[in-house]
Amino acid sequence: MTTASDAPTANPSPEAPSAEPVIQRRTVTLRIRRYNPENGIVDPTWHDYPVEVFPTDRILDALNTIKWEQDGTLTYRRSCGHGICGSDAMRINGRNRLACKTLIKDLPMTNAITIEAIKGLPLEKDLIVDMEPFFQAYRDVKPFLITEGHEPTRERLQSQHDRERFDDTTKCILCAACTTSCPVFWTDSQYFGPAAIVGAHRFIFDSRDEGATTRLDILNDREGVWRCRTTFNCTEACPRGIEITQAIQEVKRALISRRV
Ligand code: SF4
Ligand code: FES
Repeated sequence: MTTASDAPTANPSPEAPSAEPVIQRRTVTLRIRRYNPENGIVDPTWHDYPVEVFPTDRILDALNTIKWEQDGTLTYRRSCGHGICGSDAMRINGRNRLACKTLIKDLPMTNAITIEAIKGLPLEKDLIVDMEPFFQAYRDVKPFLITEGHEPTRERLQSQHDRERFDDTTKCILCAACTTSCPVFWTDSQYFGPAAIVGAHRFIFDSRDEGATTRLDILNDREGVWRCRTTFNCTEACPRGIEITQAIQEVKRALISRRV
């Protein structure tokens, strides 16, 4: 029989770990560059929005709070909310990032957090740009498997070693963070840009593909890989951690040697 005096004491020992610290909400200011040609506003203008957030919130959460609770006209793209669809690339504190992958606690919260549309593509409204020139460059490099001859009667086999040659460039989510952080693209919108070269790399180095020569010829254009000045902006901007500059160098080497 257990008596009251036998029962284990409820008092925690002094060494017991303290409870998890409570994460406090706080107010941060989002300084958003807004533009709406339908309102007759010719130039984009900066607007400040104080918003209550948890430091562990993402920039996308803060934008949603502003849109849902303060100003429904604020316009931006987002879909998956988890770094998969690539639709919410924007310049946050002067650097291209995905709003859904950027935690507020990782930015200086004492100053206003600046948010603007990615650069180099036509601005349509607030944080939205016309992505068509970006996707056209991607389509131009033929980002699909090209084969000749008869359809195979079984799957196209590939060794692990051959698969690894283009593994990195399969991770692209077409967010455009790389191309729109490239100073060459800012001054020459005809340049294919890093994302299109990444898309081409993915197939040029695929042992099952037979269209490498076609793609290399396309990228040998004056607006192709030779425009790259190896500034590494693209690699730093990529939310998927793709070694973009290295991929571009590999395409350049394949063009010089005519070997993949
Ligand atoms: S390479 Fe990276 S930054 Fe460029 S479009 Fe693909 S995922 Fe985005
Ligand atoms: S919302 Fe899909 S990547 Fe951010």
